[in-house]
Amino acid sequence: MVKIAPSILAGDFLHLEKDIRMLNEHADLLHFDVMDGSLVPNLSFGFPIMDAVAPIAEIPMDVHLMIVNPDKYIERFAKAGASYISFHLEAADLAGKGVSEYVSLIHESGARAGLAINPDIPVERLFPYIEEVDFFLVMSVFAGFGGQRFIEDSIERIAVLKAEMDRRGVCKDIEVDGGVSSSNARVLSEAGATILVAGSSVFKAEDPAMAIAEMRV
Ligand code: DX5
Ligand code: ZN
Repeated sequence: MVKIAPSILAGDFLHLEKDIRMLNEHADLLHFDVMDGSLVPNLSFGFPIMDAVAPIAEIPMDVHLMIVNPDKYIERFAKAGASYISFHLEAADLAGKGVSEYVSLIHESGARAGLAINPDIPVERLFPYIEEVDFFLVMSVFAGFGGQRFIEDSIERIAVLKAEMDRRGVCKDIEVDGGVSSSNARVLSEAGATILVAGSSVFKAEDPAMAIAEMRV
C-alpha cells in the first residue's frame, strides 16, 4: 500500500502542533523540505522546526535536503530524528563528490538514504544507485516551491525506474514529490511510486484528513 507523506512546508506554521497531531493520525510520514537558497531558488527551514516537531512526531520524519553540501548536515538531521534523508544528485554533481559517499554517511547516521532528482535530469542517471540507496525521490515539479503544477512526464520516468528495478529483481521505494493529489495518486502508484508527497493538496483542502484518505489507492 502506498504511503502518504504530507509536506509541512504547506502547513500552518503558527499552529504547527495542530497539523502534526492531525498527520500523526492520518499520514504515514512527515515530509520536511529543507531549502538553502543555493541548490534551489528558495529558503525554507531547518533544525529548529525539526527539533520542535520531533518530540510530538509519532510517524517517521522524512527530510528532503535541497541543499548544497548535504554531507555537512546529515548527522545533525539524523540527530534531530530523521528516519528518511534524501539529497539531490545535482548536489553531488556540484560538489564533485560521489553519491556513495553521501549514502554511506546517511547509513552511518542510522537513517534510510534517498537520492532525489529534478525533472530535467535523465532518470537513467539513478540506475547505478539502485542497489545502494533505500529509496529514490523523483521530483514531479522543479524543487524549490510548493504549489506548482504536476509535470506529466514524471509518470513515465517513474515507470522507467520501476522497470529497471524489476529487471534487476530489486524492490526499493520510489517517492514522488510535487503537484501530487487524489487526481494523479492512482496513476502514480500504478507506475511504481510507493511514497506520495503532497503539500498543497492536503493543507489547502477543506478536510486534510479526507484529502489524505483519497490519495490511498
Ligand atoms: C518542492 C518540495 C515539495 C513541495 C510539495 O520543492 O520538495 O515537497 O512542498 O508541495 P506541493 O504538493 O504543493 O507541490
Ligand atoms: Zn519535498
